[in-house]
Amino acid sequence: ARLVVLVSGSGTNLQALLDAIAADPEGYGARVVAVGADRGAITGLERAERAGLPTFTVRVGDYPSREEWDRALTEAVAAYQPDLVVSAGFMKIVGKAFLERFGGRTVNTHPALLPSFPGAHGVRDALAYGAKVTGCTVHFVDDGVDTGPIIAQGVVEVRDEDDEAALHERIKEVERSLLVEVVGRLARHGYRIEGRKVHVGE
Ligand code: GRF
Repeated sequence: ARLVVLVSGSGTNLQALLDAIAADPEGYGARVVAVGADRGAITGLERAERAGLPTFTVRVGDYPSREEWDRALTEAVAAYQPDLVVSAGFMKIVGKAFLERFGGRTVNTHPALLPSFPGAHGVRDALAYGAKVTGCTVHFVDDGVDTGPIIAQGVVEVRDEDDEAALHERIKEVERSLLVEVVGRLARHGYRIEGRKVHVGE
């Protein structure tokens, strides 16, 4: 399967995918064909360049409207003809044009146990709430914010001494392996989405 990965930051989830594919290029069942971002000068793009991958950057500020940004992002992704789009720390909400083209085959990873703590500060919100466990969720993207059908989740305990950075780092350890496992499974076995249920490989 052809993957396009979208990033906005350090790209450690992207790196985990690249490492898993490099470790078993035949068996993994997918390869990253391009990496896109909503901003420049991020480590995520450097990781892609280091892996010799094509990259693209589509900045909201370069477009007169959000809809035009969304269309430009859609075209930039479509140029690589992905089977699956992986939003790995991509910090923008995609719109109608993107979902028409890639809805149902775009997965996102979120650093909380959805439906708890959706949005851009899931780790901070769980900590502030006093949650005793949190974790990460890999889900299909729909027209909401972190509301699409859940594929897999991983649980992480919250420790009394945690601050946001420490907790997020511990979540990311689980998140990276969960994302690698899910993307490989979807790519190798196929999947069907029925309402909020995701059937993999049946
Ligand atoms: C991940 O925890 C992702 O869930 C969140 O931001 C983090 C991105 O990490 N949205 P990285 O860029 O993959 O290192």
